[in-house]
Amino acid sequence: MAADAEKTLRLFFALWPDADTRAALDRTGKWLHRHWEGRRTRPETLHLTLVFLGTVDASRLDELRELAAQVRAEKFALNLDQAGCWRHNRVGWLGAGETPPALAILVADLESRLESSLFRFDKRAFVPHITLLRKARCAEVPACRPVGWPVDRFVLVESQSTDSGVQYQIVGEWPLATPAADLPASA
Ligand code: 2AM
Repeated sequence: MAADAEKTLRLFFALWPDADTRAALDRTGKWLHRHWEGRRTRPETLHLTLVFLGTVDASRLDELRELAAQVRAEKFALNLDQAGCWRHNRVGWLGAGETPPALAILVADLESRLESSLFRFDKRAFVPHITLLRKARCAEVPACRPVGWPVDRFVLVESQSTDSGVQYQIVGEWPLATPAADLPASA
């Protein structure tokens, strides 16, 4: 068997923030860190996981990219207005009180295409959140300024463990469609 055939990648689909959103998320991370301590997520790695695949044969990467290119979902505004801290894994996070329908459709479409193509993925119920702290000392949730995130694309990310911690590399990126109601009326 060729060595390449055995190569695997650790992959997940995610929303990746633009610079303004990243800066706002990082500010919230600093604020929560004052309350809950722990280890802050490095700003360049901030993201919202859509579907976690885990280990995938590298030979299937192109198939995964083709599948993602078929996904039909629209752009949406994500209002991140809820902070929380999970005691079971000591994760401090920011999430959305309400999941926009377009986000639910995006995840459902991705999952159904992955199922049809027999990819394995984490099937736990989707709880949209951005991990801001790990090893947090969870306590009362402080008031947090909401972060508005205009989401216009999704990405496929490879996670690599290195001596200096986990590194993420974007290995695919797809735009979301403009809702028909937002398109200029044709003349
Ligand atoms: P977390 O931030 O809540 O830990 C990369 O590991 C990303 O995939 C993280 O955002 C992580 O969520 C998410 N993820 C979802 N399911 C996972 C799993 N079973 N193992 C590791 N990471 C997972």
